[in-house]
Amino acid sequence: MRRKHLVAIVVVIFLTWNLLMYYMLVSKNPGKTGSGSVEDQLRGLQGDIHRQLSQNSELLQQLRKFREQKLAEKLDREIHKTTTPVPLNVDKIILPILLIACDRTTVSRSLDLLLKYRPNKDKFPIIVSQDCGHKPTADVIQRYVVDHGVQHIKHPNTSDIHLPWPQKKFQGYYKLSRHYKWALNQVFHTYNHSAVIIVEDDLDISPDFYEYFSATFPILHQDPSLWCVSAWNDNGKVEMVSDDAELLYRTDFFPGLGWMMEKSTWLELGPKWPNAFWDDWMRHPDQRKGRACIRPEICRTSTFGKKGVSKGLFYEKHLKFIKLNNKFVPFTKKDLTYLMKDKYDAYFTKLVKETPEVTVAEAMAGHKSNLKALKILYSTKEEFKSTAKKLGIMDDFKAGVPRVAYNGVVSFMYRGQRIYLSPPPNWKGYDPKWS
Ligand code: UD1
Ligand code: MN
Repeated sequence: MRRKHLVAIVVVIFLTWNLLMYYMLVSKNPGKTGSGSVEDQLRGLQGDIHRQLSQNSELLQQLRKFREQKLAEKLDREIHKTTTPVPLNVDKIILPILLIACDRTTVSRSLDLLLKYRPNKDKFPIIVSQDCGHKPTADVIQRYVVDHGVQHIKHPNTSDIHLPWPQKKFQGYYKLSRHYKWALNQVFHTYNHSAVIIVEDDLDISPDFYEYFSATFPILHQDPSLWCVSAWNDNGKVEMVSDDAELLYRTDFFPGLGWMMEKSTWLELGPKWPNAFWDDWMRHPDQRKGRACIRPEICRTSTFGKKGVSKGLFYEKHLKFIKLNNKFVPFTKKDLTYLMKDKYDAYFTKLVKETPEVTVAEAMAGHKSNLKALKILYSTKEEFKSTAKKLGIMDDFKAGVPRVAYNGVVSFMYRGQRIYLSPPPNWKGYDPKWS
């Protein structure tokens, strides 16, 4: 519309100018009648016309230049729009909670706690995304829509996924991966949020759940070597954590189970999101790209989902012993910049380096039990596994990374002592073949 206007104005000026020149020529000539021959008059007229023509072409050239300049400016604006991120106001950031639900009416338990501890409904809108089309569960969620302004969105595709026989038993993993993709696209593309906190329908949360994510968001946003903040410590059983609820760490292992990411991460992951096993896929180097997550010493979520897609075995053996933090730590009032890569790496490397080394047998026998912290080295996969088993921590790897590890070091409590299960100083990085 603005362009058309401009062209019209220019055409009008052009025509007016021509008319004016014509008028001047004609009004000049009558004075000349009688003086000079017709030939002279004609010659004069010819000269005038020539001048007029050259002025016209000059004007045209200027018009063309003007048009090109405007087009270039427009292009520039468009390029600018797509490459420069809109500056975020980290203090005013809206952190929606995306609650992934399916067919368990116990989603109410998760929702009750999410509502109970929520300090601000505008900063933390709750979006329940429901898969599975389960009517009783939908009815339960609907109550929260009416009473608490929770948003209820439903995954439109609940069809079975056709799988060949050996994969058939993984149907659940395929469905939930498909659901995650759809739900995250809703959060970032339909509702245009800048970040998200993802929880599942069988998670309890701690009183400082929101405080933890609010305070760590600016760190996540500023540090490109971080790609998530998680509420989860994979070695978070009661006897394996200290009482210090303030302790936070970096980890190379993607923990999930109540986690936050930014839109930029989704723009990267969304287009190549896998058909199944999304969390292990995220742990693969092709996705992780060396990035870490922030995790707490004491978990800010715990799961009550005995029966799940992964069949509950893990629940009875491990998950039900995870300690959920019950204190409120005012994280937003604290300086958490020590979690930024440069500061943290320098501090953590020095700390581990200076911790006295013992063998696993010595640690178990209580040698040096007067010391606050001990270091145990591992050089092979077998060594790691055997030590982990003896001390009761998780002994598995995903893409070569042990759970909880940062720069190869797994930190946990053992009979009241801090243990760093650490690779030797000449460590070359994770070996994806360790499994
Ligand atoms: C485990 C993980 C979970 C992860 C999943 C995929 C634990 C404690 N949980 O799930 O974080 O996402 O593996 O690797 O380790 N769901 C759907 N559609 C379905 C089935 C389930 O959306 O068809 C939803 C559920 O509502 C739930 C989530 O997927 O929010 C996980 O399902 P669940 O049955 O709890 O499986 P887990 O074995 O706990
Ligand atoms: Mn579960």
